[in-house]
Amino acid sequence: MTSVLPTPSATAAEPSVESRVLALLAQMTLDEKIGQLLQVQAGGGWVPDDLRAMIRDGRLGSVLNEVDFATVQELQRIAMAESRLGIPLLVGRDVIHGFTTVMPIPLGQAASWNPELVRRGAEVAAHEAAARGVNWTFAPMIDIARDPRWGRIAESLGEDPHLASVLGAAMVQGFQGDDDPTVPGRIAACAKHFAGYGASESGRDYNTTNIPEHELRNVYLPPFKAAVDAGVMTLMTSFSDLNGVPASANTLILRDILRDEWQFDGFVVSDWESIRQLQVHGFTASDRDSAREAANAGVDMEMVSRTYADHLAALVHDCEVPMAQIDAMVANILRVKMRLGLFETPHADPATLPAAACDAHLAVAQDAARESLVLLRNEGAILPLSPTALSSIAVIGPLADDPHEQLGTWIFDGDAQYSRTVLQGIRAAVGSEVTVRTARGLETTRSHDHGLFEDAVAAAAASDVVVMVLGEEAILSGEAHCRAEITLPGAQEALIAAVAATGRPIVLVIMAGRPLALERVVSQVHALLYAWHPGTMAGPAIAEVLFGMAAPSGRLPVTLPRVTGQIPIYYAHKPTGKPSTPETLIHIDAIEARAPQTSVGNTSFHLDAGDTPLFPFGFGLSYTTFAYETLTVEPHALTRDDILSVQVEVVNTGPVAAHEVVQCYVRDRVGSITRPVRELKAFRKVYLAPGERMTVTFVLTPDDLAFHGRDLRRRTEPGHFDLWVGGDSRATLHADFSYVAG
Ligand code: NOJ
Repeated sequence: MTSVLPTPSATAAEPSVESRVLALLAQMTLDEKIGQLLQVQAGGGWVPDDLRAMIRDGRLGSVLNEVDFATVQELQRIAMAESRLGIPLLVGRDVIHGFTTVMPIPLGQAASWNPELVRRGAEVAAHEAAARGVNWTFAPMIDIARDPRWGRIAESLGEDPHLASVLGAAMVQGFQGDDDPTVPGRIAACAKHFAGYGASESGRDYNTTNIPEHELRNVYLPPFKAAVDAGVMTLMTSFSDLNGVPASANTLILRDILRDEWQFDGFVVSDWESIRQLQVHGFTASDRDSAREAANAGVDMEMVSRTYADHLAALVHDCEVPMAQIDAMVANILRVKMRLGLFETPHADPATLPAAACDAHLAVAQDAARESLVLLRNEGAILPLSPTALSSIAVIGPLADDPHEQLGTWIFDGDAQYSRTVLQGIRAAVGSEVTVRTARGLETTRSHDHGLFEDAVAAAAASDVVVMVLGEEAILSGEAHCRAEITLPGAQEALIAAVAATGRPIVLVIMAGRPLALERVVSQVHALLYAWHPGTMAGPAIAEVLFGMAAPSGRLPVTLPRVTGQIPIYYAHKPTGKPSTPETLIHIDAIEARAPQTSVGNTSFHLDAGDTPLFPFGFGLSYTTFAYETLTVEPHALTRDDILSVQVEVVNTGPVAAHEVVQCYVRDRVGSITRPVRELKAFRKVYLAPGERMTVTFVLTPDDLAFHGRDLRRRTEPGHFDLWVGGDSRATLHADFSYVAG
């Protein structure tokens, strides 16, 4: 059972909050307590009578989706002045990657590998949302996502537990601040979706997940633990079924792990009607049963559905939900309201906050967009383009000049009037000396009609270079927007082939909410720049990189497969008993050339796709080159009380100043359960001038090597480890060490 009041950690750390919580709780009727556990959809700019009555009667703890400031003010006034106990409301909103100013989608932000930039993006979003009365966002989304068919991979921070942990914690700090969350402009964060949602079978949204407990703990839970350690105030349950017990009633994750092991003392909100859906899952037989299972598991607040409001009082009366459990749930919510300072200031004063989409916010969005760009191919160093060496440029594609689509999924409040498109960015960068020809090529990325090809081919043929901006509209990713086939939709491949037939060099810019399988097009283009959905400042950021004002510095936060059938394909896979050999690392063309009797022995590979991705995790090109030298790892035999010091020399050996993402991977050679072939343990983004040399130091503790083994206990098992440092997950500079517990 969830620990009842008072929670030891909270009382020790914050006596005043805890004693206020207890004092308030002591005054509440059961109906008022149950009221705190309910969240409803607000009116959207007005206060309907039934909502007014609920708040006044103390039957509501939170609203979501109200962003009209005057209406929020009125809601809070009713709650604080007209309800018996004057408890303010939590005002929730999906502020996922920006508010009015839109940052790159979270997957794009993850490609920056820049925690400070991610923190700043969340801070800007918090300021803009708080100015509209919002005090709680449903972000960060930190589901580990290893299936790009899943539309929600766009909202995620990618496939890797360490990267998602570091960046998720940075987002929490950006929303909440890292010290005092009552400072105006700070809002509560919500780590979601707890837990395992990213493992939805076949990448189909809301689908079943079956995740062995060691994998759950080693892969899917670490970002949540990191968010809790970073002080996240709330968590949201997942819609999905986890090993037969839907997440919204799953006592293992909600009670045993979150409360008892991690000592989380914020609150847990369900996802939208996910408590009512326990019945749809076939886990409960009625709403009453659903309320009982969710409440006893530890879901503190119910989003939108009303099983708590309708049944908790009777469940308490019938001793099916203990009163102590209700008290603990209410206390969790009141604690967050008090920590946010809502009793004193239920909403920020917008006049004290920066204006939405002000220059400072747009600058952060441009930094974030620029650093999210991943250069995957640059044949003949076609990039950067030189405006002075060009007389004309063709800009082709349905995403080249679409202010809305570049914003990506989850942009309820994003305002496309501030968007700067790629076409605008290019025009501004090249000035009037260069002729810019434009052609849409396709009506949308999903169009199959070749009717606009002719214009596109003509524009390309008449120009020195072609920039094609293709991929996916925003609607092709996000919640419930999954794809079974992740190649370029519509006739885009045919459009690329038609333009390539002109012989003009093509720079392909991909805007998409997921990794796409680009095997068939990559060899037809000179350059490939992966831009995700870059947000408001896509245009200037992409132009900066295309024309060399900045070197690309994004690195893949997910593996890019060759073909859809390779999914799931991720770098931290297990070795298998028949791992690939150098011979099996065969490119798909080579395999096809030898088909159908191709055989490279009994190893783990696909006859028609090999076993390597198109581009590996961590990969991204620059306009310069980096050398990695003299790796040292000390001590060679690590004991429980030591720290491992990893030092490497990184040198910019090329012509321009640029960022490099120095990545450190470890393999635990033998474990009580099999261990991944390598795991990211540390990274640092550094900036080096041409010729500059830097010693980069990583410090690993024995705890960084720990995992949940066969007995499910988390510990560092003695034995030998390999360590690599380099610029992507195939890093070859190697050292080894051992852990000798002792
Ligand atoms: C459903 C989504 O799964 C969740 O991520 C979101 O925060 C809620 N709806 C609220 O809109």
